[in-house]
Amino acid sequence: MNNIEPVHIAPIRVDDMHMDNMPVEVRPLREADLPEADRIFRLAFGTFLGLPEPLAFAGDADFVGTRWRASPEAALGAYVDGVLVGSNFAARWGSFGFFGPLTVHPDLWDKGIARRLLAATMSLFERWGTRHAALFTFPQSAKHVGLYQAFGFWPQQLTPVMSKPAGATLEAGTWRAYSDLDGESRIATLGACRALTDAIHPGLDVTSEIESASRQGIGDTVLVHDGCELVAFAICHLGKGSEAGSGAAYVKFGAAHPGPAAGAHFERLLSACEAMAHARGMAQLVAGVNTSRHDAYRQMLARGFRTVLQGVAMQQANAHGYNRADCFVIDDWR
Ligand SMILES: CC(C)(COP(=O)(O)OP(=O)(O)OC[C@H]1O[C@@H](n2cnc3c(N)ncnc32)[C@H](O)[C@@H]1OP(=O)(O)O)[C@@H](O)C(=O)NCCC(=O)NCCS
Repeated sequence: MNNIEPVHIAPIRVDDMHMDNMPVEVRPLREADLPEADRIFRLAFGTFLGLPEPLAFAGDADFVGTRWRASPEAALGAYVDGVLVGSNFAARWGSFGFFGPLTVHPDLWDKGIARRLLAATMSLFERWGTRHAALFTFPQSAKHVGLYQAFGFWPQQLTPVMSKPAGATLEAGTWRAYSDLDGESRIATLGACRALTDAIHPGLDVTSEIESASRQGIGDTVLVHDGCELVAFAICHLGKGSEAGSGAAYVKFGAAHPGPAAGAHFERLLSACEAMAHARGMAQLVAGVNTSRHDAYRQMLARGFRTVLQGVAMQQANAHGYNRADCFVIDDWR
């Protein structure tokens, strides 16, 4: 027993707000607002998806806190009368950018709050010099597609997020974990990862995700070499408190170096991800791939991945970026 009084966090009183001509202010999301941003995130998705308990959405996975800690300057909050009513998180992967999760409190939907958050997100991309941007959304929702189209994003192919049981794979071969490397090897590895992604799409750079998973202790990066050359890598979030959630390893980003051996290297990467998931006690391996990366998609299906959730990729100016048949890349931009 202890005598500490439970802390009461008042829910936002959106019903008390004046809906007409709401002055919506969009500014960097404050750390103190993370619990409320997380609550709105779960409530918004849970409500949209019709869950019996909306707040149970995403279980013990953490998108809001992990993304804020990865890059506080890329997290935006929408405030009405100083009260948080929505948020959005942008990601800067070198020359490429994407955003999400974008959420608005359900009591305030269809009042232009997402549009305000998106306008501020586009300004962030401009300030960063982002050369291409994209997003993942619900293909069945005319509202979602219409909202993003108004900002110059066009719907393209599906992105299935898939899952398979993570077993002990015999064919995993040799792979290394970023966490096992010393300081100098880490610097060299980050350079090799950057060169690999740059060969897929000029300027694509996921260094921040590798470092953020490591720094926050929410995941690790699988490294696959051919001799001394890095031929594939994957950033895996692991378990509770990461974007994966309990019992799962989630490939935030994975890629094989382009070229004639890309398919074979991708196969080794999938085995290595499964081996790491199994070694870290995770029962499921989760990974998303756009169907325009046709061979990568087929390889994953052939290994027993099954779709658990399906989105559509929307890309700025209808450009294809790295959603091409020759790309052996795993990511989903959620
Ligand atoms: C999606 C979400 C963020 C939108 O927030 P919102 O504040 O209601 O959105 P806004 O009011 O700013 O904009 C909605 C736009 O969709 C448009 N829209 C609605 N139905 C439409 C349709 N059938 N066709 C085309 N456009 C449509 C509206 O007209 C409006 O644009 P306008 O103001 O230019 O007319 C919010 O509904 C939410 O949190 N949903 C649950 C979580 C989620 O799905 N997040 C996004 C995942 S990708």
